[in-house]
Amino acid sequence: MDFSARLISWQKKHGRHNLPWQQNRGPYAIWLSEIMLQQTQVATVIPYYLRFLARFPNISSLAQATEDEVLSLWSGLGYYSRARNLHLAAQIMLKRHNGEFPNAFEQILALPGIGRSTAAAICSFAFGQRHAILDGNVKRVLARYGGINGHPGDKPVADKLWQQAEALLPQGEIEAYTQGLMDLGSRVCTRSRPVCTACPVMAECVAHQAGRVAELPTPRPKKVLPEKHTAMWLLIHNGEVFLEKRPAPGIWGGLWSLPEGDPEADAERDIMSRYGVMVKSRQPLPPLEHGFSHYKLCIAPLLLHVGRVAPQASQAARMWIDLEDAQGAALPAPVKKLLTLATEDLHGQRPVSD
Ligand code: ADE
Repeated sequence: MDFSARLISWQKKHGRHNLPWQQNRGPYAIWLSEIMLQQTQVATVIPYYLRFLARFPNISSLAQATEDEVLSLWSGLGYYSRARNLHLAAQIMLKRHNGEFPNAFEQILALPGIGRSTAAAICSFAFGQRHAILDGNVKRVLARYGGINGHPGDKPVADKLWQQAEALLPQGEIEAYTQGLMDLGSRVCTRSRPVCTACPVMAECVAHQAGRVAELPTPRPKKVLPEKHTAMWLLIHNGEVFLEKRPAPGIWGGLWSLPEGDPEADAERDIMSRYGVMVKSRQPLPPLEHGFSHYKLCIAPLLLHVGRVAPQASQAARMWIDLEDAQGAALPAPVKKLLTLATEDLHGQRPVSD
């Protein structure tokens, strides 16, 4: 038996068959799951996927939603451009494809947020078409199986992995094969402590034979991520918190976030000059760190009880919102965490009023 035959028969016996997106094989639901799974683990994705699909069961309901609502269902999953692209792609399908999900690889690839591997996964799962996938897990499987050296982020290494992925494709049973690659990568051929004895292709695996499983794939050359420092201000008035909508494009574009300032500067003066509100009391909260792909954000949060000035709320990109209701807004993960802390703090002490 060759690679694909072994993998397909292993998948049927030992692979995953009960994931929620395996129960709904329509292209829309498969697309949604593949986008969510691009940068997020299965266990985290499941509740988000079910909620999103219940609220937006098809292309037209998603296309007609507001971006705010789409982002609020994405709140906490991270990489929000995925949600904005999903929304945009649904609108494109409504306009250009009569509201139908296209079934041609090139048309799927042309939609925003869909790269070569995601387009291939959709084509394979939704339409049974023969296309090669190569996500992070599959890169690891193939780098080990073929003994391919070098960091998969480097173009020549990625090219070799794609060639390998194409060469190994079976003639039929593409769904079981594609799912089998994913299952093998996430359950057997794991980054650390892979379970080679459970692997259906161990006997021909170059890394296994050479005792190089721990070395492959070659890690990214080490680069220390730069740090950025910011203060986040939780301006509180009568149980409400002040939020600002982040401009798009940019980090957290379209999400509701807390006002930020220079952590070295005088917060009270900055807040007065920017928002015209008086600070009545201030309390630092424990610092937070948030990792982005290109830098680490170090957040110094400050809880500030303020006297409110009405005109601020009238601007479209600013709002005062009840602290508890704010949890339902489209929030970046660290902001969500800070609002929870602030809510606990408010319940622990009486709200300050004028
Ligand atoms: N990761 C990406 N796509 C997946 C899928 N369909 N099932 C499980 N994990 C995945």
